[in-house]
Amino acid sequence: MGIVLSVLVAVFVTGCGADGESDKNKANDESASGKALFIRNGCAVCHGNAGRGDGPVASSLKPPPRDFRDRASYKKGRGVEAISETIKLGVPKSAMPAYPHIVPADRRLLALFIESLQSENSSDDNEE
Ligand code: HEC
Repeated sequence: MGIVLSVLVAVFVTGCGADGESDKNKANDESASGKALFIRNGCAVCHGNAGRGDGPVASSLKPPPRDFRDRASYKKGRGVEAISETIKLGVPKSAMPAYPHIVPADRRLLALFIESLQSENSSDDNEE
């Protein structure tokens, strides 16, 4: 009986864990995994470790890699869905490669990381 009770308690606690604080922690975790994927997939070579468009090969590229902080500069949309699609398809006529082999869940993590950079230096709207 004791075991059944603690299982029930555990289910209850995790099931109801979606309060603001744990959502925030989850968002931080997701953006950290997104950053790891960003480095591992070589995005930083062009976009820079902090996504500022200043990676080692950036200066040789035309158009230059996106500085992800610059909300107005996204050609294909700056929401998570749009970025995930851009990663899959690449940007034609630019050095931005297509990554169809990155699974959707990982593309989403990358997009969340990139989106988290957008708000860093801006206090304007929250639109997608
Ligand atoms: C070889 C260099 C290079 C690599 C590697 C690279 N990118 Fe890019 N990326 C670019 C360039 C150049 C642009 C700008 C394209 C343009 O302006 O037409 C760009 C643009 C983007 C954009 C913005 C597209 C828009 O809407 O304007 C996103 C998002 C992006 N890259 C994500 C990534 C991610 C994530 C990775 C790694 C999985 C990655 N890039 C790897 C060069 C690169």
